[in-house]
Amino acid sequence: MTPLVILLLCLGQAGAQFPEISAESDSDLEEALLSLILKLRQDEFFDNLLIYGRDCIFHQLTKSLGVSTVLVTLGSTNFDWAFSSLTLILCCDDEAEDGENQRTFMKTQRNRRLIYIEENMEPEKVCNGYFEDEAYNVAIVKEDFGRSNIIYTCRLFQKPNFEQVSLREAKPIYIENFRNMQGSHIRAMRELMPPRTMAYEDKKTGKKKLIGYVANLFTNFAQRLNATLELYIIQENSNGREILLNVRAGILDMGMMLETYVHPKSLDTASYPYIHAPYCVMLQVPAKLPYNLVYGKILDPPVLGILFVLFCILSVLLIYSRKKSWQDLSLANVLLNDVSLRGLLGQSFPFPSNASKHLRLIFIILCFASVMLTTMYAAYLQSYFTNPPSEPTIRSFQDFTKFNKKLAISRFELDELRMTNNSRFKDINEKDLVVIEDSNEFIRIRDSLNQSYSYLVTGDHWSTCEEQQKMFKEPVFYLSNDLCLSHLIPIAIPVRRFLPYRHLFDEHIMSQNEFGLVGYWRAHSFLDMVRLGIRPLVSEDLRQTKTNDKSLILKDVSWVLELYLAAMVFSICCFILEVLSARERFSR
Ligand SMILES: *[C@@H]1O[C@H](CO)[C@@H](O)[C@H](O)[C@H]1NC(C)=O
Ligand SMILES: *[C@@H]1O[C@H](CO)[C@@H](O)[C@H](O)[C@H]1NC(C)=O
Ligand SMILES: *[C@@H]1O[C@H](CO)[C@@H](O)[C@H](O)[C@H]1NC(C)=O
Repeated sequence: MTPLVILLLCLGQAGAQFPEISAESDSDLEEALLSLILKLRQDEFFDNLLIYGRDCIFHQLTKSLGVSTVLVTLGSTNFDWAFSSLTLILCCDDEAEDGENQRTFMKTQRNRRLIYIEENMEPEKVCNGYFEDEAYNVAIVKEDFGRSNIIYTCRLFQKPNFEQVSLREAKPIYIENFRNMQGSHIRAMRELMPPRTMAYEDKKTGKKKLIGYVANLFTNFAQRLNATLELYIIQENSNGREILLNVRAGILDMGMMLETYVHPKSLDTASYPYIHAPYCVMLQVPAKLPYNLVYGKILDPPVLGILFVLFCILSVLLIYSRKKSWQDLSLANVLLNDVSLRGLLGQSFPFPSNASKHLRLIFIILCFASVMLTTMYAAYLQSYFTNPPSEPTIRSFQDFTKFNKKLAISRFELDELRMTNNSRFKDINEKDLVVIEDSNEFIRIRDSLNQSYSYLVTGDHWSTCEEQQKMFKEPVFYLSNDLCLSHLIPIAIPVRRFLPYRHLFDEHIMSQNEFGLVGYWRAHSFLDMVRLGIRPLVSEDLRQTKTNDKSLILKDVSWVLELYLAAMVFSICCFILEVLSARERFSR
């Protein structure tokens, strides 16, 4: 048996389904209820009805209302029904809704409820019962409604906890209870993470205060609802994990922190996204090549190969066109052709006085090649000496292994990413990760721009690092565009699953963003940190000690000179051997 019987009925058909159970005396009641529902429809628009409980007076009314109706007569199912927020819930007694699926309840938590109770029941108790279940939009009618025309409507922050409204009065039946919380507490816990939340002591009053674009959101919200922000502090530096667990368990209303939703499993415990930001790796700007390697850099093997082939071709052409015969062609003449060699290196070489047309043409080619070659290499070398090329950049997660770089990550973040099975994160080789157990220690290392590692950051953290680096001669880190877990992820505030004023909080987030306050706070966050002494305005330029800031010195080109020396020694040896062998031949 399906425990839940749901019939979506249209007007007219409904009447045929249910037996008449109304008595003569009910006609007054029916009429009054009908006018109440019509009044509600006019004042607080609803587009469908949800009736909980077995047959009662409400079932009769569906006949006369042109509204689609869902009947839930028996308990609930495991199915996750999604009723619209424009649903009016009618309950035949105050226990009709018990045993409802939690997910479904979460969606109907804010809907308006009209409860029909027996005459001897006390509205105060009924309201309390609903408040305990965290449903606050509740109005009650008693069996004698037909005569009295009195509606008992629950009011959260007052005593008694209900108000009597007559059907003929213009007073609103449902109000937003949480618009004025009369100083009630919002339970939260803060995570001190500059620049999102920073604590400081007000110099004038000596009070501890919070500042930062997450802290400001909360203090403004509490002010707006006339609530008191109650900050639980378990330990001075409570970290994100603790707060999240407490919020998910329903112990805290909200967490004063931001949570990234890389792969949202469930958004039940998240507010409307506060900011959207990329979630990428912050990589070290690759170091400049040292000067002593620049020579090696410009000697590209394929280019050298092409030059060698060109040299051989020119030598062969020279040998042939000098006598128009292959008579002189030999390996030694090709490889050690002094005219071709001197020509290509831009040196002077003998030009025969009675050269043929062909020979002259070849000399022109040689001269042209020499001009091209020498200017190209001179320009190449000079520009590299002025601004040395960088070492290769990391373009994929595999490159971390290739270039032996490390990515630092906190244990908490690692666990969260593993839990969500992030596919891009799986590309990272485990060996390239340096896991830092303590989140605070991780933040300290990252915020000091320690160059031993790369880091995973969200866009809002990156903007602080970027701001800090503006004081440097050259930036130390950059945000990679290739290594992103997501280019735009929602970053939201964790909130309790059944937080009754979640919609007000979402609205608050939207209005603060719309007005531009969030952008303003974020833009000023670095200066706030400087003001509170959390970050120095001018930090030590981490790059200044690097060698490439010095001028070029002889040592930088020493290996070129060493090669030159070796070549000279080699050629002297060759010369001596040649002289010796020539003398022997002469003496013979
Ligand atoms: C705000 O709450 C206090 C109780 O903490 C109450 O006295 C005050 O009237 C409320 N303010 C408004 C504007 O309702
Ligand atoms: C991640 O993968 C594991 C095993 O492959 C699986 O048990 C788990 O449910 C997955 N988690 C999510 C959030 O998909
Ligand atoms: C960077 O971090 C490593 C490891 O935590 C540490 O050994 C090193 O001293 C740090 N470097 C700087 C400049 O702080």
